[in-house]
Amino acid sequence: MSSVFASRSLNVIDDLSINERRYFFTKVKELKDAIIAGDEKVLDSFRINDPDFGIYEVFLEDSTRTKESFRNAANFHHVKVSELISSSSSINKGESYADTFNMLSGYHNSIFIVRSKVEGLTKWLSEECTEYAERNNLPYRPAFINAGDGKHEHPTQELLDEFSFLEDLSMDFSSIHVALVGDLYHGRTVHSKADGLRIFDHVKVDLIAPEELMMPESYIEKMKENGFEVSIYSSIEEYLKTADPAKLWYFTRPQLERMGERILQKQEILREAITFRKDFLPYLKEGTRFYHPLPRHKEHPTIPTWLDKTPLNGWERQAINGMYCRIVLLSLVGGKIGDDYVPVPGDHVTDRRTEEYIIQVEPSKDKKDKNYSEGVRPISDGIVIDHICKGDDPGSIRNHMRLISSILGLDDGRGGEWVSRGSDGQYKGIIFRPGARPLERKDLKRLAAVAPHCTLNIIRDGRVAEKYRTHMPPRIYNFDDLCCQNEACISNPVNGEGVPASFYRTPDGHFACAYCGRFHSFKEIWKKRS
Ligand code: NCD
Repeated sequence: MSSVFASRSLNVIDDLSINERRYFFTKVKELKDAIIAGDEKVLDSFRINDPDFGIYEVFLEDSTRTKESFRNAANFHHVKVSELISSSSSINKGESYADTFNMLSGYHNSIFIVRSKVEGLTKWLSEECTEYAERNNLPYRPAFINAGDGKHEHPTQELLDEFSFLEDLSMDFSSIHVALVGDLYHGRTVHSKADGLRIFDHVKVDLIAPEELMMPESYIEKMKENGFEVSIYSSIEEYLKTADPAKLWYFTRPQLERMGERILQKQEILREAITFRKDFLPYLKEGTRFYHPLPRHKEHPTIPTWLDKTPLNGWERQAINGMYCRIVLLSLVGGKIGDDYVPVPGDHVTDRRTEEYIIQVEPSKDKKDKNYSEGVRPISDGIVIDHICKGDDPGSIRNHMRLISSILGLDDGRGGEWVSRGSDGQYKGIIFRPGARPLERKDLKRLAAVAPHCTLNIIRDGRVAEKYRTHMPPRIYNFDDLCCQNEACISNPVNGEGVPASFYRTPDGHFACAYCGRFHSFKEIWKKRS
């Protein structure tokens, strides 16, 4: 297997780079044309065709289209196709997901297609099962495909949505203008669009939903960071009366099963704002096309059935494209095709883990350094951590200093914590530890993670011998005190899966959970639940 796609997991849409996705779409087009033309030779070039190659479907949440299109796509490949019936599996006896899937990987299964309410599940499994495969010398690495995880992402739906849009745009990647309408809060298919639409050079997105169903701020922020032009409207009516409407409309169903009681009570009013009506027709542009990941509600469809036989109907072709896209994805991950893809430098976001975030500074230039004291006596040997949580309120600075002290193992021995107020009126924390052992490099990394933007002074013979400034690290992980605040996330302790929390810094300074993508402020990641 020499292709870059072989054995790759698809947890979020960005796991495939923009260029890789563009290549993928050319392959889907090739397959679709061959299916229509009945060109068996081309179809065979996509087929894995190996009775020992195992593809496993595990749907822990309801599904028709995704599950059945994947099953039909897997059967196209003439491989071993299995399904775990979750209602009668050991998951119900309290077994962890890692144990269940490790075992299934051992039975010569190479690709797992997993849908779950738990967000970030396939990301976790791809890490765990890779280690399992290594320690058991399995001749392959299991790959995971996220078939929808809670409110998080639905990357394969994203692929088929993008392919369907591209067909309307003559496979031209230069620009797209799309309206997203419906339950943008709970719908994972629209969340995947925040990164998914990056395949287009210019993106204009109109978000249409009442406040209660509006897209979470973190996805809107991500869209803006990705350079999209984003506009917000509270109903289709408002949109059509005030805006220059898009030609591509993407509807999503109100996700009743994910709504809380408060929103459920208002569902009728909310639905009205996102349901298409006959009197809206004259406001649409020539050539407008509607899409929908489906299912739609039989009594309250937001795309009414009278639209089925009109040229607006793009959703039927979209659903049919689902199987084509999934056949090609399996061909790529199964290593059957993809050898001719030429990786482009910078295909994947560069790993920022090497970025330096502990900077040693010259102590002698700063005269104030000499004056650190413990009570009335100057400190002769030890450490002083200064500028902690500058600008926060005193109570929260004190709480955070307790956390720093415990994480760095500074709770024993002499010393204290202090909150002072600078000439700029801002509060900051300072920790004194006379006699403390000097911190090693690994302690400094921990210090930067828990106290970015602080100054560490190492005092010897009454003088600052070494001085370091910490910056925000690109990744924070490996601390017992960390916690993703999303209870649906695989790493949240309420799920009992023992997954250690891990966060990446986003360009705007948030911390995104490595599993569910939820944005946190720096302080939030340290709020461990008991
Ligand atoms: C979507 C899903 O499950 O996220 N459907 C699908 O996969 N075709 C959308 C939905 O459930 O509304």
